[in-house]
Amino acid sequence: MSGQRDRFLTMKQAGEPIVMLTCYDYPTATIEDEAGIDVVLVGDSVGTNVLGYSSETEVTMDDILHHLKAVRRGVQRAYVLADLPYQSYDTPEDALRNADALLAAGADGVKLEGGGERTEVVRALVERGIDVCGHIGFTPQTLGSKGRVQGKSYDRAWQLVESAEALEQAGTMMLVLELVTEQVAQVITGRLRVPTIGIGSGQYCDGQVLVVTDLLGLSPFTRKIAKQYAGWREAAQQAVRQYRDDVTSSRFPTTANAFPFDAEELERLEATLASSK
Ligand code: KIV
Repeated sequence: MSGQRDRFLTMKQAGEPIVMLTCYDYPTATIEDEAGIDVVLVGDSVGTNVLGYSSETEVTMDDILHHLKAVRRGVQRAYVLADLPYQSYDTPEDALRNADALLAAGADGVKLEGGGERTEVVRALVERGIDVCGHIGFTPQTLGSKGRVQGKSYDRAWQLVESAEALEQAGTMMLVLELVTEQVAQVITGRLRVPTIGIGSGQYCDGQVLVVTDLLGLSPFTRKIAKQYAGWREAAQQAVRQYRDDVTSSRFPTTANAFPFDAEELERLEATLASSK
């Protein structure tokens, strides 16, 4: 999908923000696609947000493939990006094999975590013609599930700048900055030709990404870096309670929810049943 990749570069050059949102299932994919989301990300956050895992490191290729296929069926327009899960890209060979599997399942490009140490893997993927999105700053696959702000010191900030530039040189088409201090994210964004997509990294990135369950209010908690646009958890709890109450008090189902049996046929059936006693 190199046309799309060029579109993201053009958007950066034009100062047009890129909107990315995670997605894990078919109905949400149709909603995101219809709403005009630019990049739908089947992220490894599926593990902690949907599958009940305690860490992104538990997410497997099979998990991502399963959710990616559902998302792909719901997307007609948006760019579909899929995460390479933990330890699936330790070597260029692993990365190529697993990225090929993600593309075969419908991904337009793949995302992987890490800085300069990943350039060999990135180069191998890019040489194969695969779109790669990098991900630096807070990287849950190696730094654990509890987000910690990155780029608070000169040394760490410099490391992040170097990582970003090394990844761009290796051919990444886009770079996610997670939990990077706002000014450092701004510096990186200014130095790169390819777009940066921020999460918890302030307003100066070329685009933003959120976890869809945070946006919809499905998570049991709220995060400082996210904005909640709906209260689906509360709405769902209320709906499920009402359903339970309706069934236990015989308000649901009613005859309106049922299929009638022909009266004459019923008479015949009852007569047969009576005579067979
Ligand atoms: O998996 C994910 O949700 C991500 C975002 C935080 C960018 O990688």
